[in-house]
Amino acid sequence: MKNIFFRHQPDKEAAHWAATLLLSTLTLVSLSGCGADGTSADSGTTTEAPVDTTPDPSTDPDTEEPREWQAVGGAATVTFQDDLAFLQFIPGLDLATAPTVSQGRELFVADWTAAPGSRTLLDGLGPLFIASACDDCHLVSGRAASLNDDGTTSHGILFRLGTLDGQPDTYLGGQLQTSATVGAPEGRVTWQDIGLGQPQFQLSEAEHTLDDGVQLGPRLSPQLTGVGLLELVPEAQILQWHDPDDQDQDGISGRAHSLEREGVACLGRFGWKAVQCTLRGQSAGALHQDMGLTTPLNPAEPCTDQQSICSEQPSGGDPEVSLDSLNAINDFLTLLAVYDRRIDDQTQFDRGAGLFEQVGCDDCHRPTLTTGDTSAFEQLNQQTIYAYTDLLLHDMGEALSDGMKEGDAGDREWKTPPLWGLGLIEGNGDSRFLHDGRAETLVEAINWHGGEAEAARQAWEALQETGQQDLLVFLRGI
Ligand code: HEC
Ligand code: HEC
Repeated sequence: MKNIFFRHQPDKEAAHWAATLLLSTLTLVSLSGCGADGTSADSGTTTEAPVDTTPDPSTDPDTEEPREWQAVGGAATVTFQDDLAFLQFIPGLDLATAPTVSQGRELFVADWTAAPGSRTLLDGLGPLFIASACDDCHLVSGRAASLNDDGTTSHGILFRLGTLDGQPDTYLGGQLQTSATVGAPEGRVTWQDIGLGQPQFQLSEAEHTLDDGVQLGPRLSPQLTGVGLLELVPEAQILQWHDPDDQDQDGISGRAHSLEREGVACLGRFGWKAVQCTLRGQSAGALHQDMGLTTPLNPAEPCTDQQSICSEQPSGGDPEVSLDSLNAINDFLTLLAVYDRRIDDQTQFDRGAGLFEQVGCDDCHRPTLTTGDTSAFEQLNQQTIYAYTDLLLHDMGEALSDGMKEGDAGDREWKTPPLWGLGLIEGNGDSRFLHDGRAETLVEAINWHGGEAEAARQAWEALQETGQQDLLVFLRGI
């Protein structure tokens, strides 16, 4: 399967990254006790006295028996062998009966070109765009590097443009396009560390100055683990935790991002601020805003009225990406498998799981969700999945504000990101955490939690060293 994915490998960097991922994954499996800072986490093995918490966090609090773990993604789970973790399809999928999936995969990794191109199916890129392939940003459907050697930001991170009350820039629009097939791109962004890893982004070589109050809203490219399963979780299940006024007074006031897309009210679940309800909407948005490709959902090129460059360039079709192609990409995303847990020391892992609950991480990173029964692919229906998210928006405090509103989500509000697969990312040196990539390790990511997560962060800080290591072992294994 690997050879198919890399038959038209985008570039050497991807090959290098893929190899790094593969190696780091292997390393992680065998050395899953290695700390974020390179220190050993072996201090928390079974020979130690239990950590400072009662009841014993390694047991299931309901039964007080050892925990039982089902497969992470139900029937959509694969176990690691010698392939790339983020680019596998659900088990038992007969590609002959799902030809669109292979086509979707081709479209995901393909490099699009400006029109007219020699491959008409794949032309129409730009004129303004960020990357020429989905896979440039979601490298083998994981996370790409965020920084270039010269301090400018790379494909792993893009920038929305907006104000505190949600207005886009009148000249550049709602997203900065850092490349152009002809003429100048809209600008470039450099990354400056202003202490503790908090980045300050600066726009340079801009085609036009930003309107007053318009901010750069950084968005790291997330891994695409289990997105098909997340799409199938019924809204009612997510809404059970919707508690905007914190009526249950647990300090957590998560709320659903209510949106309207294609004329229908829906609940946002994709993107850092949950601005897309469906994979179809997400893909169409990416084709349009990230790659400059029109689709049946976005028939006009992504230029503002003030940017004449779009109307002056040849089009790659009307639309440039057909409904069939969009559906094929959708099937590809839907059928991506989830990679199973990596557990080295079951007792330590279970203790970490217990501490994750005791310090309150699970108030937002909800361990399980169950998919509905509406998928045409039977294996995806009614599966219990361990994604560790409630898919709700939370106020995460001022330090994580991006200074803009997106949809109905405020500047301090972020969707709880799913945590499955994160341990595989930490093994890859270039990939980072949180919406703007400010955290280089899982520990840094936890330490930036504020707002509704302030109490959980404090409880994490109060854990003994061994407890913290147990919790990290758990996080790296899910
Ligand atoms: C320029 C980089 C870039 C390109 C190209 C790109 N993406 Fe993304 N993708 C992102 C970023 C950044 C996000 C998070 C967006 C947000 O926060 O609103 C994202 C989010 C997603 C998500 C939602 C993941 C989640 O769990 O929230 C999916 C699915 C996705 N992209 C699929 C695609 C597909 C399919 C393509 C190609 C058609 C594509 N992307 C092209 C950067 C990119
Ligand atoms: C109030 C809800 C809430 C609680 C409680 C919470 N988190 Fe989070 N977590 C979030 C949100 C929202 C983000 C994304 C914030 C951002 O990107 O700016 C996040 C991000 C993360 C990330 C980075 C994910 C990524 O994809 O880069 C990790 C790791 C994480 N949380 C672990 C934890 C742990 C461990 C705990 C318990 C100590 C915890 N969280 C408690 C809501 C919460």
